[in-house]
Amino acid sequence: MSRKGIILSGGLGTRLYPATLAISKQLLPIYNKPMVYYPLCTLMSIGVKEILLITTPFEEDRYKFLLRNGSQWGIKIKFKIQKKPKGIAESFLIAEEFIKNSSSILILGDNLFYGYNLSSKIKAASKNFETSTIFAYPVTNPQQYGIVNFNKRKQIISIEEKPSNPKSNYAVTGLYFYDKNVVEIARSLRPSKRGELEITDLNNIYLKLNKLDVCFLNESDTWLDAGTNDTLLEASHFIKTIENRQGIIVSSPEEIAWKNGWICDQKLKELAIKLKTNNYGKYLLKLIND
Ligand code: G1P
Repeated sequence: MSRKGIILSGGLGTRLYPATLAISKQLLPIYNKPMVYYPLCTLMSIGVKEILLITTPFEEDRYKFLLRNGSQWGIKIKFKIQKKPKGIAESFLIAEEFIKNSSSILILGDNLFYGYNLSSKIKAASKNFETSTIFAYPVTNPQQYGIVNFNKRKQIISIEEKPSNPKSNYAVTGLYFYDKNVVEIARSLRPSKRGELEITDLNNIYLKLNKLDVCFLNESDTWLDAGTNDTLLEASHFIKTIENRQGIIVSSPEEIAWKNGWICDQKLKELAIKLKTNNYGKYLLKLIND
């Protein structure tokens, strides 16, 4: 059994206008692949095979064209629409039918996680279906995130959304694990001042119920959110540097599917041949030949 995965790829991406006037932010490339590949691969690398992608009414067809139904990577991808950007926590109301009675994982479409053994750490947290877990990461601009306030024993006391006086510099990343009650709890939320169902309000309910764990990511891990022109460019440079230096491809759904045994050599070859004019495709072909 595995948790069901939700990728929220909605929003207007206004901080990237005019770049995102005609295209969804999460379809823009981070270096050599669409941004949405990174959260998709985070889910795939921890064994999640059933995924719901939530996007805007204008973008659904493009995502379907890009990701298809997932069978090319041995997974199942479904699509749903968020009509208006009414908050991250609305995802669970939209995903109700998909989640049914399962525990779930939500990941934001612009969040990039990278690190040695990071998948194993995330996977370990994902195994206990009764718990809900958030992941915290130190940042230099805590006013722009949900911020974890914790005690000396590193137990969370509260979470504040974009605080003007942050009590710590640990941001809540866009990766959230919930138990099977999440839809019911999301239903009890009321819109915040900015008119959104806030993920931080949902997390604070779990905290009050004593059902929220926090997993602190290491300094050696990397978490990036590519929501502004600068962070988008930084993320591209980051991926380019790692890939070129180490001769790898970061977050290739083809490679992860193959390594997980979800697709065979022949299927990987088929997928690779379509991309063979560039290093991405050549890298995939080399995997088979090696
Ligand atoms: C959202 C959440 C915030 C979280 C962040 C992570 O912020 O509201 O709590 O820290 O994602 O990327 P937003 O992207 O809506 O500014």
